[in-house]
Amino acid sequence: MSDRYNIEEAAVDGASQRCEAILRSIPEWFGIEEATLRYIAAAARLPTWIASLGPRDAGFITISRHFDESAEIHCIAVHRDFHGMGAGTALVRLAEEHLRQQGVRYLQVKTLGPSRTNVEYARTLHFYLRRGFARLEEINGLWPGIPCLILVKKL
Ligand SMILES: CC(C)(COP(=O)(O)OP(=O)(O)OC[C@H]1O[C@@H](n2cnc3c(N)ncnc32)[C@H](O)[C@@H]1OP(=O)(O)O)[C@@H](O)C(=O)NCCC(=O)NCCS
Repeated sequence: MSDRYNIEEAAVDGASQRCEAILRSIPEWFGIEEATLRYIAAAARLPTWIASLGPRDAGFITISRHFDESAEIHCIAVHRDFHGMGAGTALVRLAEEHLRQQGVRYLQVKTLGPSRTNVEYARTLHFYLRRGFARLEEINGLWPGIPCLILVKKL
């Protein structure tokens, strides 16, 4: 299913607008305006890949690097119309390949901690676990009032 998408690195000048359209389609996950604006701005600042199908953008992934050996999925989102159709998996795979080539050994991602029951984010956690991530720690204080789960994957 993933081969159907064209995945390209987003040009800096168009990235934010394209990623905003995807984020705005899924307010259940990206309903905190301040945080969403940060993800939109980061898409133009950090390496971002966009998966498209014909003329439509299906999803994007933004990656940040902390050290030579480690990186983070800063944001991943798939447009509502494309959920469950392989775009998220294709984006994670491409990012992992790219990072491996650069010598990165560990990839982390942060999501809502499991102590806060949430049906939507339970699906997100399922996605990360299926992609080979492991739960490392739930921490409080990083995000105001929201528990944060750190997941990690050895590349
Ligand atoms: C999580 C997300 C990136 C996965 O991408 P996707 O293209 O929908 O998922 P894929 O088709 O590649 O993979 C399907 C798998 O993900 C799971 N999944 C997780 N969230 C899902 C969703 N909202 N819709 C459909 N499937 C979802 C499916 O159950 C399926 O699991 P399986 O392999 O055991 O059958 C995407 O659904 C999304 O953008 N969700 C909302 C935003 C979000 O959670 N972002 C991350 C915030 S930390």
